[in-house]
Amino acid sequence: MLNPQLFPLEVDPQTGEPFLRLRHHKSIILTPARWDDAKQLLEYMNDPRLCVWLNSPPFPYLPEHAESWLGRMIGPSRDILQELEEAKEVAELKTVEDCPVHIIREVMDDGTQKLIGNAHMFRYKNGELVLSDGSWTVDWAGKAKREEENGSRKAGDPEIIWSFGDWLAPSHHNQGIMTDAVETLLHDWGVPRMGVRHMIAAAFEGNMASVKTFTKNGFDMVYTSKNHFEVKGKMQGLHVLEWKAAENLDLISFNFRP
Ligand SMILES: CC(C)(COP(=O)(O)OP(=O)(O)OC[C@H]1O[C@@H](n2cnc3c(N)ncnc32)[C@H](O)[C@@H]1OP(=O)(O)O)[C@@H](O)C(=O)NCCC(=O)NCCS
Repeated sequence: MLNPQLFPLEVDPQTGEPFLRLRHHKSIILTPARWDDAKQLLEYMNDPRLCVWLNSPPFPYLPEHAESWLGRMIGPSRDILQELEEAKEVAELKTVEDCPVHIIREVMDDGTQKLIGNAHMFRYKNGELVLSDGSWTVDWAGKAKREEENGSRKAGDPEIIWSFGDWLAPSHHNQGIMTDAVETLLHDWGVPRMGVRHMIAAAFEGNMASVKTFTKNGFDMVYTSKNHFEVKGKMQGLHVLEWKAAENLDLISFNFRP
C-alpha cells in the first residue's frame, strides 16, 4: 500500500521509485537523481547553452563533478524518503526539509524515461543581497551570518528564505516546461510539505527565459545587482526575484487526500 506520507507523490509500480507529475505537461515527471544520470549530466553541464547561465557547476564539467553532485542529491532524497517511511502511521502530513524528487524526466511513448533537466528548492544562498530600509542592497560582510541564521532554522519554519535552481535540456526549451516545474514543485510540495512561504530566486542579468519562468509564477523582479560577481572568469549581474505566499494561504484543499 502507498505510504500516505508521500502525498502527493506517486510511486512507479515497476521500480518502486516515487515521482511527481507536472501539473500541465503530463508526460513529464520529477524523480530522485540516479547514479546512472552521470553520463547525461556531463553532456548537459558542458553545453554552452546551459553552463553560461549557471553559477555552481564547474566548467569543464568532469565525471568526478557529476559523481559528487549526484552524491549530494541522492543522499538527502533517500533520507527524506526514509523519514516519510518511518512516519507512515502518523495521520498528519509531516513537514520535511527537502523535496526528494527534482530530476526532470520525459516519459516516452514506450515507457522509457529521458533525463531533461533539474529543478531544486534549497535554502537561500545569496545572503549578500538584503532588503534594508525598503531598498535592496549588497552587503558581502553580512552574507555568512545571514545564511547561517537562515540555515539554522528548523524545517517548516515559515521565516526560512528558500531559493530555486534549475536548468533544462535545450531540446525542450520554450515549451513552458520549467514554468510548469516551478509551479508544480512550489505548490504541490514546497508550500504544503516543506512549509515554503518565502522564496528569493536569482538569475544572471539578461537571462530573460529564467526571469519569465519565475514572473509567470507570481514572483516579482525586485532588484538587479549590476556586476555582482565573477563567475567562470566573467563578471555577471544578478536579477533578484521574490515570491511570498499569500497571507490567507489555504491548504485545506491540499490536505484533502485519499
Ligand atoms: C531558464 C530555463 C530553465 C527556462 O526553461 P523553459 O522550459 O525553456 O522555460 P519556459 O518555456 O517555461 O518559459 C520561458 C519563457 O521565456 C521566454 N524567453 C525565452 N528566451 C527569451 C529571451 N531571450 N528573452 C525574453 N524571453 C525569452 C519564452 O518565450 C517563455 O515565455 P512565454 O511562455 O511567455 O513565451 C531554460 O531556458 C534553461 O535551462 N536555460 C539555461 C540554464 C538556466 O538559465 N537556468 C536558470 C538559471 S537561474
